[in-house]
Amino acid sequence: MNFQIAIDGPSGAGKSTVAKALAKRLGIIYVDTGALYRAVGLFVRSRNVDPHDAAAVAALLPEIALELRYENGSQQVYLNGEATGDRIRTPEMSMYASAVSAIPAVRAFLLDTQRDIAAKNGVVMDGRDIGTVILPNADVKIYLTASDECRAKRRFLELREKGMETTYEDVLADMRRRDHNDSTRTVAPAVAAPDAVTVDSSGMSVEECVARIGKIVAEKLGNRSK
Ligand code: DC
Repeated sequence: MNFQIAIDGPSGAGKSTVAKALAKRLGIIYVDTGALYRAVGLFVRSRNVDPHDAAAVAALLPEIALELRYENGSQQVYLNGEATGDRIRTPEMSMYASAVSAIPAVRAFLLDTQRDIAAKNGVVMDGRDIGTVILPNADVKIYLTASDECRAKRRFLELREKGMETTYEDVLADMRRRDHNDSTRTVAPAVAAPDAVTVDSSGMSVEECVARIGKIVAEKLGNRSK
């Protein structure tokens, strides 16, 4: 079945872990939409353009071709034919992505890429506006959140594991700044859809969180997921 499952929420709440596990269980693909904004940020950075300059960023969009490919079961974003890999995962690219994501032309540019993939495949899609804008008719909508401290701790451990040098305090400060940008922007702010089920993952283990959301999804899909 071509299910559409939307998982929105702030960074570090566990969206990608839960989304990947659900996609595997249901035999559908996992789409990380934040990676698309990060790839736009990477291109903007490569041209030394200020990511807050809406007109300058919009002028670069015709030069950007993005493609999502699935390699060994995981998503890879290709920017003008080149794999972006871990270059989009740095704290700097998190801030670039957040800045460019507030620009309406960037959101419009990425809309079709996201809707096309959901039209052709069953998807578990994670992001900030999936349940509100991209897939308003999704079969299941989850808004996954957690306390700032808990999210910053998870993100800090993740970055450290990747060998990136940073401190917990810096991660927490960056995260709060980004949450503020993402939830107060005028286009598609990061908010829960009115029909989303909100889950707070603070204090939950990965397994508990996956089990909890898996149960909500199974109940919503009923017999259709069998
Ligand atoms: O999920 P992430 O941390 O990789 O996302 C990076 C930034 O992209 C995030 O700060 C906000 C933006 N974003 C968005 O505006 N809409 C989405 N659907 C996904 C991400």
